[in-house]
Amino acid sequence: MRNYYMGRLIGQVMPSSDAALLSRSQRAFQERPDLMLNVLNIRPGMIVADVGAGTGYTSLQIAKRVGPTGIVFSTDVQKSMLQLLTINAIYYGMHNIRPVLSTADNPNLPHNSFDLILMVDTYHECSNPPATLRGLRKALKPNGRIVVVEYRAEDANIPLLLDHKMSIYQTRLEFETNGFIFIGNVEILPLQHIMIFQKQQVRKQVREPVSEPVREQLREPVSEPVRAQLREPVREQLREQLREQEREQV
Ligand SMILES: C[S@@+](CC[C@H](N)C(=O)[O-])C[C@H]1O[C@@H](n2cnc3c(N)ncnc32)[C@H](O)[C@@H]1O
Repeated sequence: MRNYYMGRLIGQVMPSSDAALLSRSQRAFQERPDLMLNVLNIRPGMIVADVGAGTGYTSLQIAKRVGPTGIVFSTDVQKSMLQLLTINAIYYGMHNIRPVLSTADNPNLPHNSFDLILMVDTYHECSNPPATLRGLRKALKPNGRIVVVEYRAEDANIPLLLDHKMSIYQTRLEFETNGFIFIGNVEILPLQHIMIFQKQQVRKQVREPVSEPVREQLREPVSEPVRAQLREPVREQLREQLREQEREQV
């Protein structure tokens, strides 16, 4: 039985037997990952997670951009994909890639650690979206971004099954329901949306307790001299000023 989430049919996980599709040579000009990564302004030293990294097609490019002072955590739910990713990382000499075995219920990423979490053609396959999003929310730094790249469901000319695409409406619905705010979408890629979210900050209201001296003042009855002032009729001097003003106006 196939699962639905918020009215959307969840896509089937791409088996590692199809892994060659991920590294096809035409992909660079079909999807333009270079443009996508430029928009994300990935800088040396950043800590990035590539969630659902597959064979590491995107992880390898991120690893180059974050450089030796940065780290890419590359996750996948399939051990066989992570094995291919590890071979690729070694082959291309990328020592800053850390493979992470996730489950559908837990991304298994360290908390509060990531400047950027990227999901390229992956979110539509996550079989337990609320659990995945809960884990990713915890993993993101307070000002970190989570970026979802998916084939446009709104475009019927893209020859893919609907469950392998995502619309902006549906992605927003699912992310906003799970504690993220929508920052915006960038439409510069030939086939995919770039959708950017941040986590909603839970602002704890700091209710400072009223300090004892202030509490004391609040309890203190209005002092007798102040009370007397409050009762005092308008002073004679003030009355005279008013009379003078009236005389001038006549
Ligand atoms: C279509 S492939 C895309 C791979 C890679 N992002 C790329 O663009 O080359 C989707 C990958 O996401 C993985 N995946 C599916 N559900 C996942 C989940 N809940 N957490 C992490 N990875 C997942 C699959 O095993 C598969 O390798």
